[in-house]
Amino acid sequence: MTDFSDKLVQILNYGSLNLALGIGYALNIFDVMDEKGCALSLGELSKATGLNARYLKEWLGIMVTGGIVEMAENPDDGDTFLLPSGHGDLLCTRAGNNNLGVYTQEIPLLTACAMAAVKQGFQTGRGVDFSNYPDFQAFMSELAEAKHRKVLIPEFIPYVDQGRLEKRLQQGIRVCDLGCGQGVAACLMAQAYPRSEFVGMDNHETALEQARNLSESYGLSNVEFINQDAAKICEETKFRQLFDYVCAFDAIHDQSHPLDALKGVKYMLRDGGLFSMIDIKASTSIKDNADHPMGPFLYTVSLMHCMPVGLNDNGSGLGMMWGKQQAVDLLRQAGFAKVCAEEIPNDAFNLHFLCTP
Ligand SMILES: C[S@@+](CC[C@H](N)C(=O)[O-])C[C@H]1O[C@@H](n2cnc3c(N)ncnc32)[C@H](O)[C@@H]1O
Repeated sequence: MTDFSDKLVQILNYGSLNLALGIGYALNIFDVMDEKGCALSLGELSKATGLNARYLKEWLGIMVTGGIVEMAENPDDGDTFLLPSGHGDLLCTRAGNNNLGVYTQEIPLLTACAMAAVKQGFQTGRGVDFSNYPDFQAFMSELAEAKHRKVLIPEFIPYVDQGRLEKRLQQGIRVCDLGCGQGVAACLMAQAYPRSEFVGMDNHETALEQARNLSESYGLSNVEFINQDAAKICEETKFRQLFDYVCAFDAIHDQSHPLDALKGVKYMLRDGGLFSMIDIKASTSIKDNADHPMGPFLYTVSLMHCMPVGLNDNGSGLGMMWGKQQAVDLLRQAGFAKVCAEEIPNDAFNLHFLCTP
């Protein structure tokens, strides 16, 4: 076979594995196998997961032939299946920032949500309405849990502005989490810094309801969640110079009017305030992304969600791979005096754009 033919065969196998990994992750099978920490028979796995043995057996066929799960033949007691702990380090919820397992759900989920609408978009050039993605906010919240829970308070905040932000948060400042989704980051910060006050801002009411429930379950009184279109912040004088710190985690590139949103951030910041925009680490040019280790994955997520959602309402449709150069340019156009694009320790996916008004 030619190299390219080998490559296509691999693509068929890896694409299938992605789907099956996504199913296994969503059904919690990896966490169960990892927590058991030993080889399990099919019956034991079925009992431990509460899942049907026939379906599990077919799924295990994919996992074993794909090199994810190790199988030991046992003629007396039946075959057993083991998730090596090194695989669990990257596939299970305990992996925190290293958890790649959670991402295996993304392409299957987006395909189920938007395959037909995206194909139509190729004909019409129109965007895809957010309502096509009913399960996406829940997934984003799961991703936020995986991303933020282990790193936001112990690693990310202490690193911002060389530790000065953490001190200010401990003393008490006003913070806005823009595009807060289901509120995971805002709640974690509100819990860690009780003297500071937090506002989570989003225009997705269902996500905001979840965020309010999360805050209630934490027993927090220093965080509120408000419905606000980021593109219209400057129309509301109540937001003028209201905050000392604004953060936006993965929340600018899929907005329809990102420049207006960034102008809104600047409008909301007091003198001496700070803005952290955390967004995908990539270059603006496709050519410069040719060696990006996750290029096809990230461009696909963008094609299936970020870019078409950003085209709605005559939007700019930046997409997830808008890249560092375009991001810096837009931040400057929004009027930020200082824009600094930094690597984030232990985070290969994102860049931190630290801006002052
Ligand atoms: C990819 S999610 C990120 C959520 C969260 N920051 C996180 O880290 O999990 C992007 C969020 O931006 C919100 N968003 C998109 N356009 C918006 C707009 N015009 N105004 C306010 N929020 C917006 C979406 O509703 C969504 O919750």
